[in-house]
Formats: sequence, C-alpha cells, structure tokens
Amino acid sequence: MQLYKTKIQGTGKYHPDKVLTNDELSKMVDTSDEWITQRTGIKERRISDLEKEEYPSGMAERAARQAIENAGWTVDDVECILFATTIPDMMLPNTASQLQARLGITNQCACLDINAACTGWLYGFQMANSLIQTGVYKKILLVGTEMASGFNNWQDRSTCVLFGDGSGVTALEATDADGDSFVIDSIMGSDSSKRMALAMPNGAAMSPITHEILDNREQYITMDGQVVFKSAVKTMASHCATLLERNNMTLDDIDWFIPHQANLRIIETVGKLLKFPSERVITNVQKYANTSSATIPTAMHEAIADGRIKRGQTIMLAAFGAGLTSGAAILQF
Ligand code: UT7
Repeated sequence: MQLYKTKIQGTGKYHPDKVLTNDELSKMVDTSDEWITQRTGIKERRISDLEKEEYPSGMAERAARQAIENAGWTVDDVECILFATTIPDMMLPNTASQLQARLGITNQCACLDINAACTGWLYGFQMANSLIQTGVYKKILLVGTEMASGFNNWQDRSTCVLFGDGSGVTALEATDADGDSFVIDSIMGSDSSKRMALAMPNGAAMSPITHEILDNREQYITMDGQVVFKSAVKTMASHCATLLERNNMTLDDIDWFIPHQANLRIIETVGKLLKFPSERVITNVQKYANTSSATIPTAMHEAIADGRIKRGQTIMLAAFGAGLTSGAAILQF
C-alpha cells in the first residue's frame, strides 16, 4: 500500500581537498596520464586525510549538514540514517551510528549500514523509498560515502588509478502533495557467479589479517577489470531498458541520466547501447574518479546545485559494483 511519495528534499556532497592527478600517480606506479585518460576518462581524484577526519563518517557529516540545511530540516528531524559504504569507519559500531553521533542527533533514530559496494546508494534509495511509501519514516538521510584510498593497493596500477574518496548525502522526505516528486520505478539485482571479479578477500571473518597477508600485500582490493567492464555495461543498459519498457516510457521522457561514475568508457558504452544523447548524461568521474557508492549522489548534487536538474524533470539512475550488484531507478525530481 502506497501512502506517500518520496521527494529528494535536499542534497549535499563533500570531497577531500587533497587532489592526486594522473601525472602525480605516474610517479608512484608505472602508468601515464595518457593511459588513464584514454581507458577511463579520469584526470584526477581526491584523497582523504585522516588528520582532517576524512574517514567515512567525517566526510559524511560535512555532506549531511549541507543536505539537511538544503532540505530545511534540523538534525533531530532525521528518523533513519541509511549509510552505504564499502569500508566502514570501524567493524563495529556501524558508520550510520557514528554519523548520528557526529551530527548530534539526540532522537535515537534508526541507523543502518548498507554494503552493496558501488550500487550501495541506489540499493538504499529503493529501501528508503519503500520505507517512506509505506509510512514507516517521513525523513530519511541516505548516505553514499567511500574512503577508497583505504583499500587501494598503491603498488597495483591496474586498480589504484581508478578510485577516489568522497561523500554524497540525500535528504529524502515523504510527500502526498499532487504533482510533487516521486520515484517512478526501481530495480535491483546481483550476479554472484561473478562475485570474485571484484573483491577484498582478506581482513574479515574468513581470512583475518596475518603477517603473511601484510608481507604479500594481499589486504587490498583485487579486480578482473574486463569481467567487471562487460558485466557493468550489460546490466546497466538492460536494467534501464526494463524500467523504460515496463513504465511505457521512451528516452524522450528522460531529462537526465546519472550513471555510476566508474569509467567514462563504461558510461559512453551504456549511453550508446541505450541510444541516449550524451549531452543529457551527467558525469563527474573526470574530477573525482570512482568514488563507489558516492558517485550518483555527488553527481546529482552538482547538477542540482548548478541548475541543470530542475524540479519536475525526470532522472534515470543506474549503477553496478562488487557482488556483482547492479540496479537502476527512474524518478521525477
Ligand atoms: O565500480 C566498479 C569498479 N571497477 C570498474 O569499473 C572496472 C571496469 N573495468 C575497466 O574500467 C577496465 O577494464 C580498466 C580501465 C580497469 C582496464 O582497461 P582495459 O582496457 O580492460 O585494460 P586491460 O586490463 O586489458 O589492460 C591492458 C594493458 C595491460 O598491458 P598488456 O598486458 O597489454 O601489456 C595492462 O597491464 O594495460 C596495462 N595496464 C596499464 N597500463 C598503464 C593496466 N593498468 C594500467 C595502468 N597504466 N594504470
């Protein structure tokens, strides 16, 4: 039963000040600005400084305060925090609780972490929409934040050039006003047959950190880039096509497409498969690299803040990540 619709009431983002350019990276590993730009479109990324508390809850606090202000809320209006992150602040407590404390929320709101890697914010969006539609919560803070520099192997050129740090926060609010924003549809999934194509197998319950793991530098992320690339393109395009078809929509009904910002070649290939006009695709991967669960909310925030996305417009979102999780959504802003 649908009692309410979900409105994106406010957005915020935070990226660390420290910029790491492709040229600087090419002094650390055997790579070049030319290779990275051609294969990924990435020019630079931001790197957290722990001294500045730029770990997940610290970055999210800055983005959340902006989203809460834009929404016209106070911190104690928040009834639930859904915190999508791949690497939490700590194993326990969850990072949503860390954020509750940092924001000074005193109402004991619900706090839950979501780990669906780069699809985490989009999974959270579907969950938040269901909680709002059914009247469970009226105001949800949905967070996508990653400190990828913590899982990057800075000696592995095949992965370390791809990722960056950042946070995007979305303030979601229940509405029942006619003509107001709403989520048109969403779809989520996961292909676990390819789950080891993007993994961090050591450091948790199955394989706790040992001296041997550290000596062999096996505590970091591992990836079969081509498997991930092919799966990403296929699943993002097919999820978008499914949503359009089952809602009797065409590409002309979509004002903006915000795909997960992993790689410009993936984004362009999905756009070509869908025949979606490139001028209506929002990207920021060039500036921030792949910030995993933070890419969609930060790109959305930037496009709202600079006036590209306007109230009443229709936005299509798509993401994929480790799992291999994937999803898409269409909403009226
Ligand atoms: O959110 C999900 C995160 N993951 C992804 O989005 C990854 C998806 N995959 C990709 O984006 C691409 O597969 C990559 C950008 C990771 C790699 O591009 P590719 O066209 O698939 O390259 P490749 O892995 O086939 O490697 C081609 C060559 C290899 O050299 P040889 O064997 O041909 O001599 C690599 O060793 O490029 C080499 N290479 C590099 N060279 C310079 C790999 N990484 C680098 C590098 N700089 N950073």
